[in-house]
Amino acid sequence: MNTQPIYLDHQATTPLDERVLQAMLPFLTREYGNPSSPHALGRSAAKAIRSARRQVTDLICAKNELEIVFTSGATEANHLAIVGAALAARPTGGHVVTTAIEHKAVLAACRRLVDHHGYTLTQVGVDAYGRVHPADIAAVLTRHTVLVSVMHANNEIGTLQRLAAIAEITAPRGIRLHTDAAQSAGSGLLDVTELGVDLASLSSHKLHGPKGIGALYIRGGTRVTAQQTGGGQERGLRAGTPNVPAIVGFGAAAHLITTDAVPPPARIRVLRDRLQGLLLASIPGATVNGHPHRRLPGNLSLTLPGIEATDLLDRLPNIAASTGSACSTGSGEPSHVLTSIGLTRYQARATLRLSIGRTTTDTDIDQAADLIIRTAHTLMPATVHAA
Ligand SMILES: Cc1ncc(COP(=O)(O)O)c(C=O)c1O
Repeated sequence: MNTQPIYLDHQATTPLDERVLQAMLPFLTREYGNPSSPHALGRSAAKAIRSARRQVTDLICAKNELEIVFTSGATEANHLAIVGAALAARPTGGHVVTTAIEHKAVLAACRRLVDHHGYTLTQVGVDAYGRVHPADIAAVLTRHTVLVSVMHANNEIGTLQRLAAIAEITAPRGIRLHTDAAQSAGSGLLDVTELGVDLASLSSHKLHGPKGIGALYIRGGTRVTAQQTGGGQERGLRAGTPNVPAIVGFGAAAHLITTDAVPPPARIRVLRDRLQGLLLASIPGATVNGHPHRRLPGNLSLTLPGIEATDLLDRLPNIAASTGSACSTGSGEPSHVLTSIGLTRYQARATLRLSIGRTTTDTDIDQAADLIIRTAHTLMPATVHAA
Protein backbone atom coordinates (compact mmCIF):
# COMPACT_ATOMS: atom_id res chain seq x y z
CA MET A 1 0.00 0.00 0.00
CA ASN A 2 1.29 3.46 -0.87
CA THR A 3 1.46 5.41 2.38
CA GLN A 4 3.03 8.52 0.84
CA PRO A 5 0.81 11.60 0.98
CA ILE A 6 0.01 13.54 -2.19
CA TYR A 7 2.98 15.87 -2.27
CA LEU A 8 1.96 19.45 -3.02
CA ASP A 9 4.79 21.24 -1.25
CA HIS A 10 7.44 21.56 -3.98
CA GLN A 11 8.21 25.14 -2.97
CA ALA A 12 9.35 23.90 0.45
CA THR A 13 11.54 21.20 -1.03
CA THR A 14 11.53 18.67 -3.87
CA PRO A 15 12.18 14.93 -3.89
CA LEU A 16 15.68 13.89 -4.96
CA ASP A 17 15.65 12.74 -8.58
CA GLU A 18 16.73 9.08 -8.84
CA ARG A 19 19.27 10.05 -11.56
CA VAL A 20 20.76 12.63 -9.22
CA LEU A 21 21.13 9.99 -6.53
CA GLN A 22 22.92 7.68 -8.97
CA ALA A 23 25.34 10.48 -9.92
CA MET A 24 26.08 11.14 -6.25
CA LEU A 25 26.57 7.56 -5.04
CA PRO A 26 30.18 7.03 -6.21
CA PHE A 27 31.18 10.20 -4.36
CA LEU A 28 29.61 8.89 -1.15
CA THR A 29 31.49 5.61 -1.43
CA ARG A 30 34.64 4.91 -3.45
CA GLU A 31 35.36 8.47 -4.74
CA TYR A 32 36.01 10.00 -1.35
CA GLY A 33 39.00 12.18 -2.19
CA ASN A 34 39.47 15.74 -0.96
CA PRO A 35 39.51 17.96 -4.08
CA SER A 36 42.58 19.78 -2.71
CA SER A 37 44.63 16.56 -2.48
CA PRO A 38 47.48 16.08 -4.96
CA HIS A 39 46.68 12.46 -5.91
CA ALA A 40 44.30 10.57 -8.16
CA LEU A 41 41.38 10.52 -5.70
CA GLY A 42 41.77 14.23 -5.08
CA ARG A 43 42.00 14.99 -8.80
CA SER A 44 38.89 12.95 -9.47
CA ALA A 45 36.94 14.94 -6.86
CA ALA A 46 38.24 18.23 -8.25
CA LYS A 47 37.24 17.17 -11.77
CA ALA A 48 33.72 16.30 -10.58
CA ILE A 49 33.38 19.72 -8.97
CA ARG A 50 34.56 21.43 -12.18
CA SER A 51 31.94 19.54 -14.14
CA ALA A 52 29.18 20.44 -11.64
CA ARG A 53 30.25 24.08 -11.72
CA ARG A 54 29.83 24.03 -15.51
CA GLN A 55 26.38 22.46 -15.19
CA VAL A 56 25.20 25.12 -12.72
CA THR A 57 26.71 27.84 -14.93
CA ASP A 58 24.67 26.55 -17.87
CA LEU A 59 21.47 26.35 -15.81
CA ILE A 60 21.50 30.09 -15.12
CA CYS A 61 23.14 31.19 -18.40
CA ALA A 62 26.17 32.68 -16.66
CA LYS A 63 29.18 33.48 -18.84
CA ASN A 64 31.94 31.76 -16.91
CA GLU A 65 32.01 28.90 -14.41
CA LEU A 66 34.29 30.93 -12.16
CA GLU A 67 31.23 33.07 -11.47
CA ILE A 68 29.75 30.20 -9.38
CA VAL A 69 30.67 29.81 -5.69
CA PHE A 70 29.25 26.73 -3.97
CA THR A 71 27.65 27.35 -0.57
CA SER A 72 25.51 25.31 1.83
CA GLY A 73 22.32 26.64 0.24
CA ALA A 74 20.46 29.80 -0.62
CA THR A 75 20.48 31.04 2.99
CA GLU A 76 24.28 31.17 3.01
CA ALA A 77 24.40 32.51 -0.56
CA ASN A 78 22.05 35.35 0.44
CA HIS A 79 24.26 36.18 3.41
CA LEU A 80 27.46 36.12 1.36
CA ALA A 81 25.90 38.23 -1.38
CA ILE A 82 24.30 40.87 0.81
CA VAL A 83 26.81 41.25 3.61
CA GLY A 84 29.80 40.39 1.41
CA ALA A 85 28.99 42.70 -1.51
CA ALA A 86 27.86 45.58 0.70
CA LEU A 87 30.98 45.48 2.87
CA ALA A 88 33.25 45.18 -0.15
CA ALA A 89 31.71 48.37 -1.52
CA ARG A 90 31.60 50.29 1.75
CA PRO A 91 32.79 48.94 5.12
CA THR A 92 30.43 51.11 7.14
CA GLY A 93 27.58 53.59 6.83
CA GLY A 94 26.16 52.47 3.50
CA HIS A 95 22.55 52.04 2.44
CA VAL A 96 20.84 48.86 1.18
CA VAL A 97 17.45 48.47 -0.41
CA THR A 98 15.25 45.39 -0.37
CA THR A 99 11.55 44.58 -0.53
CA ALA A 100 8.84 43.86 2.00
CA ILE A 101 8.30 40.30 0.75
CA GLU A 102 11.80 38.82 0.83
CA HIS A 103 12.66 35.50 2.42
CA LYS A 104 13.78 35.81 6.03
CA ALA A 105 17.34 34.87 5.02
CA VAL A 106 17.57 38.09 2.98
CA LEU A 107 15.91 40.25 5.62
CA ALA A 108 18.22 38.87 8.33
CA ALA A 109 21.33 39.55 6.22
CA CYS A 110 20.18 43.13 5.65
CA ARG A 111 19.52 43.53 9.39
CA ARG A 112 23.06 42.38 10.07
CA LEU A 113 24.38 45.30 8.02
CA VAL A 114 22.20 47.66 10.05
CA ASP A 115 22.96 46.18 13.47
CA HIS A 116 26.70 45.60 13.05
CA HIS A 117 27.95 47.90 10.29
CA GLY A 118 26.05 51.17 10.67
CA TYR A 119 24.04 50.72 7.49
CA THR A 120 20.58 52.04 6.80
CA LEU A 121 17.95 49.83 5.18
CA THR A 122 14.93 50.69 3.05
CA GLN A 123 12.24 48.07 2.41
CA VAL A 124 10.17 48.89 -0.65
CA GLY A 125 6.52 47.82 -0.63
CA VAL A 126 4.71 45.77 -3.26
CA ASP A 127 1.35 45.99 -5.01
CA ALA A 128 -1.58 43.63 -4.45
CA TYR A 129 0.00 41.07 -6.79
CA GLY A 130 3.27 41.19 -4.89
CA ARG A 131 5.08 43.14 -7.61
CA VAL A 132 7.76 45.68 -6.84
CA HIS A 133 7.59 48.74 -9.06
CA PRO A 134 11.01 49.65 -10.45
CA ALA A 135 10.16 53.36 -10.02
CA ASP A 136 9.70 52.75 -6.29
CA ILE A 137 13.24 51.36 -6.15
CA ALA A 138 14.60 54.35 -8.10
CA ALA A 139 12.85 56.73 -5.69
CA VAL A 140 14.65 55.47 -2.59
CA LEU A 141 18.24 55.28 -3.90
CA THR A 142 20.71 57.67 -2.32
CA ARG A 143 24.37 58.42 -2.93
CA HIS A 144 25.11 55.95 -0.11
CA THR A 145 23.22 53.03 -1.69
CA VAL A 146 25.56 50.15 -2.49
CA LEU A 147 23.20 47.21 -3.00
CA VAL A 148 19.63 46.42 -4.02
CA SER A 149 18.27 42.93 -3.27
CA VAL A 150 15.01 41.85 -4.94
CA MET A 151 13.90 38.23 -5.06
CA HIS A 152 13.21 36.74 -8.49
CA ALA A 153 10.17 34.65 -7.53
CA ASN A 154 8.35 34.70 -4.23
CA ASN A 155 8.26 31.52 -2.17
CA GLU A 156 4.68 32.02 -0.96
CA ILE A 157 2.76 33.63 -3.81
CA GLY A 158 5.08 32.84 -6.73
CA THR A 159 5.09 36.36 -8.19
CA LEU A 160 8.01 37.09 -10.53
CA GLN A 161 9.77 40.45 -10.39
CA ARG A 162 10.91 42.63 -13.30
CA LEU A 163 14.60 42.38 -12.54
CA ALA A 164 15.79 43.57 -15.95
CA ALA A 165 13.95 46.87 -15.44
CA ILE A 166 15.46 47.21 -11.96
CA ALA A 167 18.95 46.46 -13.35
CA GLU A 168 18.50 49.37 -15.79
CA ILE A 169 18.16 51.63 -12.75
CA THR A 170 20.95 50.18 -10.58
CA ALA A 171 23.66 49.42 -13.17
CA PRO A 172 24.28 53.01 -14.42
CA ARG A 173 24.62 54.14 -10.81
CA GLY A 174 27.18 51.42 -10.00
CA ILE A 175 24.80 49.86 -7.44
CA ARG A 176 24.98 46.08 -7.18
CA LEU A 177 21.80 44.11 -7.84
CA HIS A 178 21.30 40.83 -5.98
CA THR A 179 18.44 38.39 -6.45
CA ASP A 180 17.35 35.47 -4.32
CA ALA A 181 16.55 33.02 -7.10
CA ALA A 182 16.06 29.93 -4.92
CA GLN A 183 12.52 29.48 -6.25
CA SER A 184 12.94 30.28 -9.94
CA ALA A 185 16.08 28.43 -11.07
CA GLY A 186 14.35 25.05 -11.21
CA SER A 187 11.70 26.36 -13.59
CA GLY A 188 14.34 27.31 -16.14
CA LEU A 189 13.31 30.95 -15.71
CA LEU A 190 16.63 32.30 -14.54
CA ASP A 191 18.96 33.85 -17.12
CA VAL A 192 21.33 36.02 -15.10
CA THR A 193 22.81 37.62 -18.20
CA GLU A 194 19.44 38.63 -19.63
CA LEU A 195 18.20 39.87 -16.26
CA GLY A 196 21.36 41.89 -15.67
CA VAL A 197 21.82 40.88 -12.03
CA ASP A 198 25.25 40.96 -10.39
CA LEU A 199 24.56 38.31 -7.76
CA ALA A 200 22.05 35.44 -7.60
CA SER A 201 21.40 32.89 -4.84
CA LEU A 202 20.54 29.29 -5.71
CA SER A 203 19.39 26.24 -3.76
CA SER A 204 19.78 22.65 -4.97
CA HIS A 205 16.94 21.09 -2.98
CA LYS A 206 14.36 23.28 -4.73
CA LEU A 207 15.24 21.63 -8.05
CA HIS A 208 15.33 17.93 -7.17
CA GLY A 209 18.92 17.98 -5.97
CA PRO A 210 20.22 17.24 -2.45
CA LYS A 211 19.74 19.51 0.56
CA GLY A 212 22.57 21.49 2.14
CA ILE A 213 24.06 22.72 -1.11
CA GLY A 214 23.52 25.82 -3.19
CA ALA A 215 25.53 28.50 -4.91
CA LEU A 216 26.05 32.18 -5.30
CA TYR A 217 26.45 33.54 -8.81
CA ILE A 218 28.88 36.46 -8.72
CA ARG A 219 29.17 38.29 -12.02
CA GLY A 220 32.81 38.74 -13.06
CA GLY A 221 34.20 41.97 -11.60
CA THR A 222 31.77 42.12 -8.66
CA ARG A 223 33.65 42.50 -5.41
CA VAL A 224 32.52 40.37 -2.45
CA THR A 225 34.15 40.09 0.98
CA ALA A 226 34.31 36.46 2.19
CA GLN A 227 32.16 35.76 5.22
CA GLN A 228 33.78 32.43 6.07
CA THR A 229 37.56 32.28 5.96
CA GLY A 230 39.93 29.37 6.41
CA GLY A 231 41.45 27.06 3.84
CA GLY A 232 40.88 29.34 0.85
CA GLN A 233 38.46 27.03 -1.02
CA GLU A 234 36.10 28.47 -3.63
CA ARG A 235 38.73 31.05 -4.56
CA GLY A 236 38.83 32.29 -0.99
CA LEU A 237 35.13 33.18 -0.97
CA ARG A 238 33.84 30.19 0.96
CA ALA A 239 36.31 28.26 3.05
CA GLY A 240 35.74 24.64 4.05
CA THR A 241 36.27 21.27 2.36
CA PRO A 242 33.69 21.16 -0.42
CA ASN A 243 30.76 18.76 -0.02
CA VAL A 244 31.67 16.81 -3.15
CA PRO A 245 28.66 14.39 -3.34
CA ALA A 246 26.21 17.25 -2.81
CA ILE A 247 27.94 19.46 -5.40
CA VAL A 248 27.87 16.57 -7.89
CA GLY A 249 24.16 16.09 -7.14
CA PHE A 250 23.42 19.79 -7.60
CA GLY A 251 25.24 19.72 -10.95
CA ALA A 252 23.34 16.61 -12.05
CA ALA A 253 20.00 18.18 -11.07
CA ALA A 254 20.87 21.31 -13.06
CA HIS A 255 21.94 19.22 -16.05
CA LEU A 256 18.60 17.38 -16.14
CA ILE A 257 16.86 20.73 -16.50
CA THR A 258 19.14 22.25 -19.17
CA THR A 259 19.06 19.09 -21.27
CA ASP A 260 15.24 18.86 -21.12
CA ALA A 261 15.42 15.49 -19.39
CA VAL A 262 12.52 16.51 -17.14
CA PRO A 263 8.90 17.47 -17.85
CA PRO A 264 8.65 21.12 -18.99
CA PRO A 265 7.30 23.84 -16.69
CA ALA A 266 4.35 24.15 -19.11
CA ARG A 267 3.09 20.75 -17.94
CA ILE A 268 3.31 21.87 -14.32
CA ARG A 269 1.38 25.02 -15.21
CA VAL A 270 -1.42 22.97 -16.81
CA LEU A 271 -1.75 20.87 -13.64
CA ARG A 272 -1.67 23.98 -11.43
CA ASP A 273 -4.33 25.70 -13.53
CA ARG A 274 -6.55 22.65 -13.34
CA LEU A 275 -6.25 22.42 -9.56
CA GLN A 276 -6.90 26.16 -9.32
CA GLY A 277 -9.99 25.87 -11.53
CA LEU A 278 -11.41 22.93 -9.58
CA LEU A 279 -10.94 24.60 -6.20
CA LEU A 280 -12.24 28.02 -7.26
CA ALA A 281 -15.32 26.43 -8.81
CA SER A 282 -16.27 24.53 -5.67
CA ILE A 283 -15.15 26.62 -2.70
CA PRO A 284 -17.26 29.79 -2.44
CA GLY A 285 -15.24 32.97 -1.90
CA ALA A 286 -11.84 31.35 -2.53
CA THR A 287 -9.30 33.74 -4.07
CA VAL A 288 -5.87 33.28 -5.62
CA ASN A 289 -2.89 35.27 -4.34
CA GLY A 290 0.02 36.43 -6.47
CA HIS A 291 0.14 37.64 -10.05
CA PRO A 292 -2.39 35.93 -12.35
CA HIS A 293 0.20 35.24 -15.09
CA ARG A 294 3.63 36.39 -14.00
CA ARG A 295 4.10 33.82 -11.30
CA LEU A 296 5.84 30.46 -10.90
CA PRO A 297 4.09 27.74 -12.89
CA GLY A 298 3.69 25.43 -9.88
CA ASN A 299 2.50 27.98 -7.31
CA LEU A 300 -1.06 28.12 -5.98
CA SER A 301 -1.68 30.31 -2.94
CA LEU A 302 -5.37 30.30 -2.03
CA THR A 303 -7.27 32.21 0.60
CA LEU A 304 -10.33 30.28 1.78
CA PRO A 305 -12.52 32.69 3.74
CA GLY A 306 -13.53 31.53 7.19
CA ILE A 307 -11.22 28.52 7.21
CA GLU A 308 -8.08 28.28 9.30
CA ALA A 309 -5.51 26.77 6.94
CA THR A 310 -3.90 24.83 9.81
CA ASP A 311 -7.27 23.24 10.69
CA LEU A 312 -7.77 22.30 7.06
CA LEU A 313 -4.33 20.70 6.74
CA ASP A 314 -4.74 18.90 10.08
CA ARG A 315 -7.79 17.20 8.60
CA LEU A 316 -5.94 16.30 5.41
CA PRO A 317 -3.19 13.90 6.49
CA ASN A 318 -3.03 12.52 2.95
CA ILE A 319 -1.95 15.85 1.51
CA ALA A 320 1.44 17.44 2.15
CA ALA A 321 1.07 21.22 1.69
CA SER A 322 1.88 24.43 3.55
CA THR A 323 -0.08 27.17 5.22
CA GLY A 324 2.36 29.86 4.18
CA SER A 325 6.07 29.78 3.56
CA ALA A 326 7.70 26.63 4.92
CA CYS A 327 10.13 28.78 6.83
CA SER A 328 7.56 30.84 8.73
CA THR A 329 5.19 27.95 9.37
CA GLY A 330 5.09 27.22 13.06
CA SER A 331 5.95 30.77 14.15
CA GLY A 332 2.30 31.63 14.81
CA GLU A 333 2.77 35.04 13.16
CA PRO A 334 0.84 35.79 9.96
CA SER A 335 3.04 35.73 6.91
CA HIS A 336 4.75 39.08 6.19
CA VAL A 337 4.34 38.35 2.48
CA LEU A 338 0.56 37.96 2.71
CA THR A 339 0.10 41.03 4.91
CA SER A 340 2.34 43.03 2.52
CA ILE A 341 -0.01 42.32 -0.38
CA GLY A 342 -2.91 43.62 1.70
CA LEU A 343 -4.37 40.52 3.34
CA THR A 344 -5.67 40.95 6.88
CA ARG A 345 -4.22 38.71 9.61
CA TYR A 346 -7.44 36.76 9.44
CA GLN A 347 -7.16 36.25 5.66
CA ALA A 348 -3.48 35.34 5.97
CA ARG A 349 -4.38 32.60 8.44
CA ALA A 350 -6.95 31.31 5.95
CA THR A 351 -4.30 30.90 3.26
CA LEU A 352 -3.03 27.62 1.90
CA ARG A 353 0.02 27.15 -0.35
CA LEU A 354 -0.19 24.24 -2.75
CA SER A 355 2.89 23.83 -4.90
CA ILE A 356 2.94 21.50 -7.83
CA GLY A 357 6.10 19.96 -9.23
CA ARG A 358 7.38 17.59 -11.84
CA THR A 359 6.44 14.49 -9.83
CA THR A 360 2.79 15.59 -9.56
CA THR A 361 0.35 13.48 -11.60
CA ASP A 362 -3.15 14.08 -13.00
CA THR A 363 -4.49 11.66 -10.41
CA ASP A 364 -2.79 13.63 -7.62
CA ILE A 365 -4.60 16.76 -8.79
CA ASP A 366 -8.01 15.08 -8.97
CA GLN A 367 -7.66 13.36 -5.61
CA ALA A 368 -6.24 16.44 -3.88
CA ALA A 369 -9.00 18.68 -5.28
CA ASP A 370 -11.67 16.25 -4.13
CA LEU A 371 -10.22 15.94 -0.61
CA ILE A 372 -9.65 19.69 -0.18
CA ILE A 373 -13.13 20.60 -1.42
CA ARG A 374 -14.89 18.07 0.80
CA THR A 375 -12.89 19.06 3.87
CA ALA A 376 -13.27 22.79 3.20
CA HIS A 377 -17.05 22.34 3.03
CA THR A 378 -17.11 20.74 6.46
CA LEU A 379 -15.11 23.68 7.92
CA MET A 380 -16.83 26.56 6.16
CA PRO A 381 -18.96 28.92 8.24
CA ALA A 382 -22.66 28.47 7.48
CA THR A 383 -22.97 31.97 5.95
CA VAL A 384 -20.22 31.35 3.37
CA HIS A 385 -21.55 27.87 2.70
CA ALA A 386 -24.99 29.18 1.84
CA ALA A 387 -23.66 31.94 -0.46
C1 LIG B 1 13.16 32.32 -1.61
C2 LIG B 1 14.00 31.45 -0.73
N1 LIG B 1 15.20 31.89 -0.35
C3 LIG B 1 16.00 31.15 0.43
C4 LIG B 1 15.62 29.91 0.87
C5 LIG B 1 16.56 29.12 1.74
O1 LIG B 1 17.19 28.15 0.95
P1 LIG B 1 18.11 27.01 1.60
O2 LIG B 1 17.15 26.03 2.19
O3 LIG B 1 18.87 26.43 0.44
O4 LIG B 1 18.99 27.65 2.59
C6 LIG B 1 14.38 29.41 0.51
C7 LIG B 1 13.91 28.10 1.03
O5 LIG B 1 12.84 27.96 1.58
C8 LIG B 1 13.55 30.20 -0.32
O6 LIG B 1 12.34 29.78 -0.70
